[in-house]
Amino acid sequence: MCGIVGYIGSKNATPVLIKALKKLEYRGYDSAGIAVYTADEIIVRKVKGALKNLGEKITGELVKASKTDPEYEKQEMAIYEKTADFIKGNVGIGHTRWATHGEPSDTNSHPHTNMDGSISIVHNGIIENYAELKAKLQAEGVVFQSQTDTEVVVHLIDKAYREEKDIFKAVLKVIHLLEGSYALGVLCKDYPDRIICCRKESPLVVGIGSGENFIASDVPALLEHTRDVYYLGEKELAVLYSDHVDLFNFEGEKIIKQPSHVEWDMAAAEKGGYPHFMIKEIHEQPKGLTDTMRPRIVKDSSGKPVDVFFEENKMDDAWRNAKRVVITACGTAYHAGVVAKYAFEKIARMKVDIDVASEFRYRDPILDKDDIFIVVSQSGETADTLSALRLAKQNGLKVVAITNCVGSTVSREADDVIYTLAGPEIAVASTKAYTTQVLCMYMLAIKAGKLRGTLTDSEASKLLAELEAMPGKVQQILDGKDIIQKFASRQFNKDKIFYIGRQFDSATSLESALKLKEVSYMHSEAFAAGELKHGPIALIDPQTLVVAISSEPHLYEKIGSNMVEVKARGATVLVITQDEKSFEGKADEVFKIPECSSTLSSLLTVIPTQLFAYYCAVLRGIDPDKPRNLAKSVTVE
Ligand code: F6R
Repeated sequence: MCGIVGYIGSKNATPVLIKALKKLEYRGYDSAGIAVYTADEIIVRKVKGALKNLGEKITGELVKASKTDPEYEKQEMAIYEKTADFIKGNVGIGHTRWATHGEPSDTNSHPHTNMDGSISIVHNGIIENYAELKAKLQAEGVVFQSQTDTEVVVHLIDKAYREEKDIFKAVLKVIHLLEGSYALGVLCKDYPDRIICCRKESPLVVGIGSGENFIASDVPALLEHTRDVYYLGEKELAVLYSDHVDLFNFEGEKIIKQPSHVEWDMAAAEKGGYPHFMIKEIHEQPKGLTDTMRPRIVKDSSGKPVDVFFEENKMDDAWRNAKRVVITACGTAYHAGVVAKYAFEKIARMKVDIDVASEFRYRDPILDKDDIFIVVSQSGETADTLSALRLAKQNGLKVVAITNCVGSTVSREADDVIYTLAGPEIAVASTKAYTTQVLCMYMLAIKAGKLRGTLTDSEASKLLAELEAMPGKVQQILDGKDIIQKFASRQFNKDKIFYIGRQFDSATSLESALKLKEVSYMHSEAFAAGELKHGPIALIDPQTLVVAISSEPHLYEKIGSNMVEVKARGATVLVITQDEKSFEGKADEVFKIPECSSTLSSLLTVIPTQLFAYYCAVLRGIDPDKPRNLAKSVTVE
């Protein structure tokens, strides 16, 4: 996820663009840049790090106050205003980045330009076929500056412009060559009177001003200037001039749209209309899963999924020969590892050991250089996870990192990196990072199963087709969220909440209990369902809610018995299952998830429990985005 902006009008574009980017920093903050047309050339300034670095680079002045000082923001804004003295122009585009291809660096920052600097673009999304497009362009002599997927787009536009002699026709031609998702803003030196933009699967809004017009990935960037907008539809283009905007479809035909008037306030707008980032991020899971999966699933000529391809993967031989997988991580990321334990055993028939990183690093673990070591970390900066990674490397193991942050320490130190393409996670409690981590584990297990011959081609295709259906099934659960909200409104005052499950569902239980305690402060624990009678059942009383997670048909009867045991002792029981009939009379409430293979059900069973945690927090008057005592990134022991 990145943020893009554009401005054309009579004001100085530089501070307008930078201040608009400030409102989009929640979409990415690892680098920022602008391109402004000024005196017959396009000036590009871009830099790694927060937007503040861009302001400092342009003006040569520094924000001196510390981040906690109220002066900080004033100084930052003053620097942004001052950028007007350094780059003077009335049309420009800007970008704030959340790296997906290529680490955060000055060169990988947007805007990207063609070789003579006459065309400049900003992009939000992922160009899935960039590798093959890049190879063709390189064979034609194009020299690339960056490692990004985006840079192919500007070189393709350059080529098409030389052929078509018209920048609009050039953009139109190029979008038909691109696979994946994109919102693009294009500036061409030969057309300083316009900005061209378009979108497919990434958001883009056109702001309509008086004698000025704007583009932005999201409404907050526009609200200082206008509340009248065109929400660009899927596969639509816009050409912005200072006095009007023309809209087109991808066939290049003009279209007419009614502008919308934005009624939201700024705070709501930043959260896309959701009251909190946590619920926004819960709703972003279908997209995060699709983005993480789509570039990695290999299809045959008939479109059937046949294999998994991780671009970054250099370890096929290690996977073929490995005797064991060792996984370490912390918190929610550790729970993704617990799902992986079951997935690797079942799909790839590999031995798996798993430990929380804070324990692993102080053990004297028995490691074999043929083991594959996997670390999972949303931030890629967690101190314990990093130490575990280093210990594994000292022992000669190959390390695979699964992380959401390109260029993070974990990603730099691992031998192999698999990125979850979930976009920045702002809420402290992890939701979309977790499901995309689980997805990566499933894909890795399928790949390992194929490489080791433990999974037949038809079994692999079946699982991959099921995986492809998961984003839609997650959406179905989200569409039915009212049931969970109503259930939460009856349960949010309970003192004790136990999550129980078996196998894959016991992993979901761990994550569900953590999510609930983190954001609602309700005391929740997870138990492997069969363990109840070995002690925890002593805690059951009428104030207890037991959530049974049950997605594996061969275990329905077993978990059904556990439910009856706790119900008989006064607990309220909710069951989350694909098959409500199997639990008739055993539960007080049933939440049905869409049918799916029980091997992959961990991607679905957790969604209702994330929603339940969120609604309980809100009902208890807690801000779920910033729970007490917690921080997003734990870089200390
Ligand atoms: C829980 C949560 C934490 C993190 C843990 C590891 O919602 O977010 O438990 O999962 O602190 O963080 P990362 O994944 O950044 O290593």
